[in-house]
Amino acid sequence: MKNLVIVGTQWGDEGKGKLVDILTPAFDIVARYQGGHNAGHTVIIGDKRFVLHLIPSGILHTDKLCVIGNGVVVDPKALVDEIDQLEKLGINVTPDQLRISSRAHLILPYHRVIEHGGEERRGKEKVGTTMRGIGPAYEDKIGRRGLRAGDFLDEELLIEKLRTNIETVNMLQEAQKAHLIDEDELVEEVVSLAPRIQPYVCDTPLLLNRAVKQGKRILLEGAQATMLDIDFGTYPFVTSSNATAGGACTGTGLPPGKITGVLGIAKAYTTRVGSGPFPTELLNETGDKLRAKGFEYGASTGRPRRCGWFDAFVVRYSVAINGVNSIALTKLDVLDGIDEIKVCTGYKYEGKQLVDMPFDAKKLEGVEPIYETLPGWTESTVGVTDFDKLPQNAQAYVNRLSELVECEISVVSTGPERNQTIVRPGTCFDKWQNQ
Ligand code: IMP
Repeated sequence: MKNLVIVGTQWGDEGKGKLVDILTPAFDIVARYQGGHNAGHTVIIGDKRFVLHLIPSGILHTDKLCVIGNGVVVDPKALVDEIDQLEKLGINVTPDQLRISSRAHLILPYHRVIEHGGEERRGKEKVGTTMRGIGPAYEDKIGRRGLRAGDFLDEELLIEKLRTNIETVNMLQEAQKAHLIDEDELVEEVVSLAPRIQPYVCDTPLLLNRAVKQGKRILLEGAQATMLDIDFGTYPFVTSSNATAGGACTGTGLPPGKITGVLGIAKAYTTRVGSGPFPTELLNETGDKLRAKGFEYGASTGRPRRCGWFDAFVVRYSVAINGVNSIALTKLDVLDGIDEIKVCTGYKYEGKQLVDMPFDAKKLEGVEPIYETLPGWTESTVGVTDFDKLPQNAQAYVNRLSELVECEISVVSTGPERNQTIVRPGTCFDKWQNQ
């Protein structure tokens, strides 16, 4: 086992960062393959709390190389701010530790302006984005007019492309009677970042493929999750990239045959930020309790997360779409003390049980979850590191989820700290960690 993809199986915030932290020592390179600074992973360094948005958390291990792949959209200002913050905490971010793909598209200030207008116009149908300019940056990529990190290497061309794009944006702003962007100011702002970005830019697809040839091990870190994937998620209430495992190939340049495993991350319940269907959502006291106990607030935006029961129909779908070999189940401890725990095993729509995940968000809004009720446990599971030491009902809960989602559950997380983790011996994860 060499090159492993880590992917969210729900609507994000499953705790992928913790698993990346645990696995990083067993890998040489950690690469991000999609998304941008809409993601957030909280890291505690001594008594300081810091949220990484763009740079893989592997950066905290000084002997590892972190790669921002071509599938990521990079806000150069946000990146420079993140580097500066890390350096303030004593973590130097040198080009030996961080590489950015020359092909990674840039999020520029006008993308946020476009996004604000777009979300406002959608009214009730708004996606509830993170307002980081992610969608408009990917629109420019697909529209073949985007600027890329490699453009920072040629200032003249950078300015020319910037001016062309700003002129187009201003024409649209004018038509909508919205405020115009100050072209000179924006060009100056972006160009001033060039010396900070240039040293990190390189051909990362080549770098990664050479590393694979040399026998190096690559951990591919997905952001967001399957149900937010542009193709497989609850469209249009999704992010604008392929968060699923397939995105790891197109977002890094690693061929599919080089991906040797997929770890799916699932929370022991479900959360979602932003708008869109969420069949198992709990708009009651239990939902509030999960939010408070699980501290379910967005790491990037601080927004309260919507909370609900575990949806095995969703996770089973994710296991199939991603080819998940093994699951890490996080935040089991948040369910401690709940009398009865419900698990969604399927959906009914207009009285009929569905076989497959509906492709249409409107239909998904209208489904009725089919629940199975499992007994809870009163004992604390916080910090338990041995599966056999979990309360019987907690063990039964994990085993039942594994049956329902048709996948091995190799890891159970029982708290935010690295050592508050159960790794079940003989599982895929055990092998990946000790490869
Ligand atoms: P965008 O990625 O900012 O375009 O937002 C699109 C949708 O994805 C919104 O519902 C966001 O709340 C959601 N989203 C984006 N990033 C994350 C994340 O890291 N965790 C959870 N939800 C996210």
